[in-house]
Amino acid sequence: MDKARFSEGDATRSQEKSPDNSPDESPDNQLLQPEAAVDERGKQEESIRPHRFADYIGQKDLKDVLEIAIKAAKSRGEVLDHLLLYGPPGLGKTTMAMILASEMGVNYKITSAPALERPRDIAGLLVNLKPGDVLFIDEIHRLSRMTEEILYPAMEDYRLDVTVGKGTSARIRSIPLAKFTLVGATTRVGALTSPLRDRFGLVQKLRFYEVHELSKIVVRSAELLNTSINAEGAEEVARRARGTPRIANRLLRRVRDYAEVKSSGEINREVAAEALQLFQVDPMGLDWTDRKMLSVIIEQFNGGPVGLETIAAATGEDTQTIEEVYEPYLMQIGYLSRTPRGRTATNAAYKHMGFKSPKPANEQLSLLIDE
Ligand SMILES: Nc1ncnc2c1ncn2[C@@H]1O[C@H](COP(=O)(O)OP(=O)(O)OP(=O)(O)O)[C@@H](O)[C@H]1O
Ligand SMILES: [Mg+2]
Repeated sequence: MDKARFSEGDATRSQEKSPDNSPDESPDNQLLQPEAAVDERGKQEESIRPHRFADYIGQKDLKDVLEIAIKAAKSRGEVLDHLLLYGPPGLGKTTMAMILASEMGVNYKITSAPALERPRDIAGLLVNLKPGDVLFIDEIHRLSRMTEEILYPAMEDYRLDVTVGKGTSARIRSIPLAKFTLVGATTRVGALTSPLRDRFGLVQKLRFYEVHELSKIVVRSAELLNTSINAEGAEEVARRARGTPRIANRLLRRVRDYAEVKSSGEINREVAAEALQLFQVDPMGLDWTDRKMLSVIIEQFNGGPVGLETIAAATGEDTQTIEEVYEPYLMQIGYLSRTPRGRTATNAAYKHMGFKSPKPANEQLSLLIDE
């Protein structure tokens, strides 16, 4: 395979951004290049995405680690170490990758593992990287084996090994690459192969946000959306956002619509609560699926344990969505526990769902410890 055959066009579905056209100067300027079909909602999401460290709220541990790494890399004039970000969807992995590039003053390219099916997709991206560039690969646990093997020498020695010719005359040719930073994001760190995971110098987990952090995010987003909201209104939205900025922003938009139609003026606690009740988001942020999961476990299985497949069938969601999207938050707030035999509903879940707790708290605890 020849280097010349890798054209920009091969890197399908990837998006680029250079540091010199700052999105802050012209809010209408799309952060992502037009080839990424950005719909209206996508546009709104981009307009409120923070672009600087200072605007990235919460995740203090992550920010501390990265700020040190950036300063050290800059002072040595080196590229930033490869970074793996993991955690549930919507917590700010993509946002952080973009901020890293802008703080380092470099370009970034965004792609996702499913877009890198053929070896030439990743090869095309790699040969076009400039020194220091950030290559962001979303859903990195879904890389094909061949793509992954191309990445190993690229990450370790900034080298692309390509096979030239066929059969007995086939030879490996190495093409030197610019030193770059790979940022990988995944919701399933356990699904990564260990050779790939081991090649990241920094592996960082994103955690769910506290209500006060989400409140700040809501206030900031409301400002950008030209919506007026008071502190209690923001807190009400934040409390129902499942610890997740993307959900906080989504709920804010629903509340804004409601407020425009049903009331006028500032969004306060009552308006936010009324609106979110209408959209079936309960005071703990649980939606229809969460509530269905809990009620199935409680009503049909006496509190559990219930297998994942059964929960998936009862809610009509696939097992992966249940595991990656619904369960992490239910476990975080202590409504669900995962045991080797299946999922059980906790006393707190009984209470929230309006059922009488079946067994005393300490008995339930000892049951869990037995397992
Ligand atoms: N720390 C933060 N401060 C302010 N806003 C944030 C923060 N993190 C995320 N957001 C907002 O939440 C939205 C979703 O974040 P992002 O796209 O980075 O999530 P993600 O972790 O990449 O999710 P996925 O796993 O689904 O790709 C962003 O558009 C941004 O506006
Ligand atoms: Mg993302």
